[in-house]
Amino acid sequence: MEPIADPAQETIRIDSHLSGARERSLAEDVLDGLTRPFKELPPKHFYDTRGAELFDRICELEEYYQTRTERAILAASAGEIAKLSGAAELVELGSGTAAKTRVLLDALHETGTLRRYVPLDVTEQLVRECAHELTQRYPGLQVHGVIGDFERHLDRVPPPDGRRLVVFLGGTIGNFTPGSRRRFLRQVRSLLGPEDHLLMGVDLVKDPDVLRAAYDDSEGVTAEFNRNVLHVLNRELDADFDPRDFEHVALFDAQHQWIEMRLRARREHTVQVRALSLAVRFAQGEDMRTEISAKFTQARLRADLSAAELELVGWLTDPRELFAVSLSRPLAGEPGQVSLTP
Ligand code: SAH
Ligand code: AVI
Repeated sequence: MEPIADPAQETIRIDSHLSGARERSLAEDVLDGLTRPFKELPPKHFYDTRGAELFDRICELEEYYQTRTERAILAASAGEIAKLSGAAELVELGSGTAAKTRVLLDALHETGTLRRYVPLDVTEQLVRECAHELTQRYPGLQVHGVIGDFERHLDRVPPPDGRRLVVFLGGTIGNFTPGSRRRFLRQVRSLLGPEDHLLMGVDLVKDPDVLRAAYDDSEGVTAEFNRNVLHVLNRELDADFDPRDFEHVALFDAQHQWIEMRLRARREHTVQVRALSLAVRFAQGEDMRTEISAKFTQARLRADLSAAELELVGWLTDPRELFAVSLSRPLAGEPGQVSLTP
């Protein structure tokens, strides 16, 4: 019998750069981060299947205004963005479920320019599921998924196929510390040709009480999301964290204008990370930082963009100025040497 061709298979390609490497990076991050005087873990380890589900629930919370606000901004301007970018391909970093991206894909599909979508995410299941859903939704769309770490694998984004729009939504740029943020933006710059654009969502500076509520919601979903990293360490590295020993803390740092999530030890105890033969002692009240989420002004973003030889060409916000979607493009001319002097 003739094999039945599955049209979806012909339009989807998925490259994985994480088999084994994800575990290695987790092990390195734990060895490095949990042996420092101030303990810290990078936020990318939140997002296993359960973490991704908890993040989805966060996006629906009343207190977490970011997602619905960014979606409304995109819905109001998607047609204009599509026309201005004329993009044949949309490359999305930290794509997740690509829920809001559909607004842009709809508009690009309508203008008739779109050929390919390239989602890049550290969570394999999310890349695979969204590739399948989107090829069904947009007949003829090629999806080239990249399972990888956007801090290490931007060079694995396939070569451009026409004009490119790189999108980085959700305010995820805020999860970098300032120096890494600029280094990351310089790498993103290298994905862009002279006609290409970067569309990036940023959460704006605002009343700290609003921020604290967004990161410490009344239903405790964010607290569960935060503690989920402990389940990841238990499973992946055979550790014996008891999540009940840690309190969720959302702390606003006024000097840096960022919110931090921490896990605070409720009692003095020692955790064994058996896969690394590592014993980690926690004093009572000791904090482990699990995320920073920086908040922006237009000036702050402009400075970061210009350090990466990008210029701001569009700034879209909601009437309450809670969130902004920025559009930028490479500064004219060849990328120069990075100057360390201000
Ligand atoms: N862009 C989506 C999801 C934001 S949540 C939105 O706006 O709703 C952050 C996403 O980035 C998650 O899907 C997570 O898996 C992914 N992520 C976090 N750190 C990453 C990293 N270092 N490399 C690649 N993806 C990462
Ligand atoms: C993905 N990132 C932008 C979210 C944020 O707001 O920093 C993750 C998150 N952390 C707590 N709630 C949501």
